[in-house]
Amino acid sequence: MKKLNRYLALLATVLALISCQSEENRYDLIPYPNHIEQMPGRFAFDNHTQIFVSPECGDEITGVLKQFAGQLQKTSGLELKWAEKEGKNGIVVKLNPELADEAYNLHIGKNNIEIAAATPNGVRFALQTVKQLLPAAVYGDTLVTDANWSVPCATIDDAPRFGYRGLHLDVARHFFSIAEVKRILNVMAVHKLNTLHWHLTDDQGWRIEIKKYPRLTEVGSMRSKTMIAKEWDNYDNTPYGGFYTQDELRDIVKYAADLGITIIPEIDLPGHMMAALASYPELGCTGGPYEVSGQWGIRDDVLCAGKDKTFDFIENVLLEVMDIFPSKYIHIGGDECPKLRWEKCPACQARIKALGLKDDEHGTAEHYLQGYVTERVEKFLNDHGREMIGWDEIMEGGLSTHATVMSWRGVSNGVEAAKQGHDVIMTPTSPLYFDYYQSRDTQSEPLAIGGYNPVDLVYKFNPVPDELTEEEAKHILGTQANVWTEYMPTNEQLEYMIMPRIAALSEVQWDQLENKDYNRFLNHIGHILEIYNAMGLNYAKHLFEVEGEYMVDESKGCIVATLRTQGDAPIYYTLDGTEPTTASTRYTEPIEISTDTDTCTLKAIVVRDQVKTRTLVRPFSFNKATGHLAELKDAPSPKYTFGGASVLTDGIHGDFNYSNGCWLGFIDTPLDATIDLGETQEVSRVKVGSLVQYSEYIFPPTKITVYAADGENPMTEIGKLDIPVAPKQDADGVREYTCEFPSVPASKIRVVVNTTDKIPDWHGARGEKGWLFVDEISIN
Ligand code: ACM
Ligand code: ZN
Repeated sequence: MKKLNRYLALLATVLALISCQSEENRYDLIPYPNHIEQMPGRFAFDNHTQIFVSPECGDEITGVLKQFAGQLQKTSGLELKWAEKEGKNGIVVKLNPELADEAYNLHIGKNNIEIAAATPNGVRFALQTVKQLLPAAVYGDTLVTDANWSVPCATIDDAPRFGYRGLHLDVARHFFSIAEVKRILNVMAVHKLNTLHWHLTDDQGWRIEIKKYPRLTEVGSMRSKTMIAKEWDNYDNTPYGGFYTQDELRDIVKYAADLGITIIPEIDLPGHMMAALASYPELGCTGGPYEVSGQWGIRDDVLCAGKDKTFDFIENVLLEVMDIFPSKYIHIGGDECPKLRWEKCPACQARIKALGLKDDEHGTAEHYLQGYVTERVEKFLNDHGREMIGWDEIMEGGLSTHATVMSWRGVSNGVEAAKQGHDVIMTPTSPLYFDYYQSRDTQSEPLAIGGYNPVDLVYKFNPVPDELTEEEAKHILGTQANVWTEYMPTNEQLEYMIMPRIAALSEVQWDQLENKDYNRFLNHIGHILEIYNAMGLNYAKHLFEVEGEYMVDESKGCIVATLRTQGDAPIYYTLDGTEPTTASTRYTEPIEISTDTDTCTLKAIVVRDQVKTRTLVRPFSFNKATGHLAELKDAPSPKYTFGGASVLTDGIHGDFNYSNGCWLGFIDTPLDATIDLGETQEVSRVKVGSLVQYSEYIFPPTKITVYAADGENPMTEIGKLDIPVAPKQDADGVREYTCEFPSVPASKIRVVVNTTDKIPDWHGARGEKGWLFVDEISIN
């Protein structure tokens, strides 16, 4: 019996070796190393594997190895041994001070894994690479003894492109527990991010205990109600809140540090301060009363910049913040601070006078007052050995060159800041706001703020714009994605918005431009999703869905639908509204959809073994304009052009996702479209589909004018619709504006849709131009 057992064990080993050797080595790494030489063979972990950490490495690096060994033991059952000297079968870790800060050399041979780095993070990233090469189960909590606990041989010399690789998390709009934030830190570590920018205070809640100001959490951490969906005047009347004690914060700072992640706290000032004002009304210009806001958006009430006690407050808060968070940088916000109260406040005006601040061509005295606040706070931070970061608005009041600017309103402010000699972190809304939609198919998505930042757009982002010189480009410290949580009430939702976009972000942050390769990324993402599964994370699956693109074909008078999915998985579709199956038509070439009916629904599925994804559902509605290409007098804004004029007559109605290709955006010029109907038709109605999303400065049209011509006759005005500006904020939504007139024969119709010249006074961006978004012009 014993002999048979031994024989069976030997057979199993031989079979394992054969299968191991015949298996092609895979290197499913995200971010992919900047230099990797793949080699045949594998290093197998077993109970004899030793760890040798050379003595000069110190305790922190030894701790990193202990963490790795502990996780491997928990999931594989293998117990690595600690060696006094270098052995044959083992991990050897050495310090190499010549290497760059977070760089590492990793050699995986058949007998040894050798790691060299200058810092603990270098060693962490080497081991993270090893972990990604192991079975995904190594990221889990359960023992999996039958996995192949080996890694493919390779020589890797790796270092990040950027030193700042961040993710931002807003816990003010919705609160996430320490345990939930740790899950996010864990996934950041998988992808070698090194900074969590933690947005801890805002109008809707104060989340950090400050011992000197207990009311900040007693009062400021709770709002009495939250607006429902995007209805600005409709509330759930349910108290909502939460905060972290200083002990909890110290615990998570340490937890993050063990993962190689620095937490940068943000105290957003002088705007976004309603929670603090509700707690201490004397800090505002009017003295209140104030309440913690249950509504999203920008508030007019901000900290009073005239009163000395405001600065005492800021400094005392920052003293406690600095005591908890050892980060080099402290973020002071600075975004979206209306100046309305300061314009009327005697204390603010007195300070403006005392400082001699004046309006000029670059800004108002009140803008310079914000500059004064920023500089004063920066000096305080500098005096305490810290550096300041602020959102790009901090440039508006003039700025000392120490401050680091976070460019969120596109990249142009970041470019300007770098040219002025500031360090910059690039976090443009497109494509780095992970609160934007990641699918065109918004109707089947959970509600999001708007926009469209799918994985591929995130991947393609380059944080160093071409217009920067080599010297200026050195000021781009790095990049981060921002996660604002207005529409993320649950942890599942939060994770769904972050993953897998964070994987794409990590290659933007880590990989040199020439080493980025989206196809390679797509090849590797399957393994990364297995890692997310092992970690119990919720993630989005859009990468594996069917996507459609729709264009008007004027010559055929039809809509052409092009379907795509990742890889060569088969796509099946129907056009009659029935559910597609593998017996439906298989997609092989673009589909020509006739506009002869009133409506049509395209449904498509992709069939895969591993991942089940949603059915693509694309309804169309047709009218006399559909299939005829409009001629536009002025192009839409370059940011929102997509398929161009085709969008207006493709039979597709848009939804909240204003940058998914269903909408055209206009700001500087009206929409002025002429549509040739091909032949004379009776026309009595023109409808314009328009989006209203006040928080994104998207307003209804102010006027629609319709002109018609028949044959060679000149155009004459045949109808007009004036649309009054809403006297106060009403509900966001997709609207349709109809202009009706007595029926006329026409072969050409011109439609002019006017934009909002001045955003009304009830809005935080009063006086600025409003956006107009139009999805469709229908003619009947
Ligand atoms: C921001 O998104 N308000 C920085
Ligand atoms: Zn004031």
